[in-house]
Amino acid sequence: MTDRYCVLGNPVAHSRSPAIHAAFARQCAEDISYQAILAPLDDFAGSVRDFVAAGGKGANVTVPFKEEAFRLCDQLSERAATAGAVNTLTFAAGSILGDNTDGAGLVRDIATNLVFPLAGRDILLLGAGGAARGVVGPLLAAAPSSLAIANRSADKAVALARAFAGKVAVDAGNFADFAGRRFDLVINATSASLAGESLPLPAGLFAPGSLAYDMMYGKGETPFLARARAQGAARQADGLGMLVEQAAEAFLVWRGVRPDSGPVLAALRAQRAA
Ligand code: ATR
Repeated sequence: MTDRYCVLGNPVAHSRSPAIHAAFARQCAEDISYQAILAPLDDFAGSVRDFVAAGGKGANVTVPFKEEAFRLCDQLSERAATAGAVNTLTFAAGSILGDNTDGAGLVRDIATNLVFPLAGRDILLLGAGGAARGVVGPLLAAAPSSLAIANRSADKAVALARAFAGKVAVDAGNFADFAGRRFDLVINATSASLAGESLPLPAGLFAPGSLAYDMMYGKGETPFLARARAQGAARQADGLGMLVEQAAEAFLVWRGVRPDSGPVLAALRAQRAA
């Protein structure tokens, strides 16, 4: 029997996840179906219940339900517990297991696809909301030299840095606090571009050879990447690779096999360029 999976979100109609998982399933000869389900803003739990009742085996969770999914789970993986958010649900024996593959997807896209190893690097993370929190643990696990968190409201950056204080120094402040500092990697985890707003990046953030990474993606160059290019970032990458890699990691969690993400990402990029 075909195993059923889905992505739950609101909005969700434009999600690439069904196409990505269909490609993975073909590639790995796994008998699954995967659909996008619009969950009502006030009844995410009901949508999960209905999908489980219909025989669903697992679900991805996207905006704006990742924190709610975290609260709904009976068990959490360590990385989901650290992230405080869940993007991958597995339904087994009447219980809901929560995982978070976003951070692993980001690190894999940067380190493997973009061949930009993170060990020993100075990293600046922009934003301190749910998206930023989800990636701090995996970024630190990749052994950078330092991690700094800049946020419009500095207090949220400070709170996030405190939550992760450990072996690596985690600095925090607002954007202006990092004027005069240089970074090898600057990651945009804010939602500013969704509102069509740009970030007040101080000049001189980008070290020679640096990479600017936007966790968002769109049809053309994102406003953050355009700004980063103008300010001297040597390389720019958007979040399409992270999207495919977090999906590959979810597929691995559910099916026990890691799909080859390369051709799927290449096809998405080709589609977008067409
Ligand atoms: P998400 O789950 O996408 O992270 P969120 O938790 O609401 O959403 O967090 C949004 C993040 O984008 C925050 O870091 C927010 O900054 P504040 O904490 O100061 O609100 C940031 N953000 C959103 N719009 C922004 C803008 N126009 N300029 C700078 N930062 C912005």
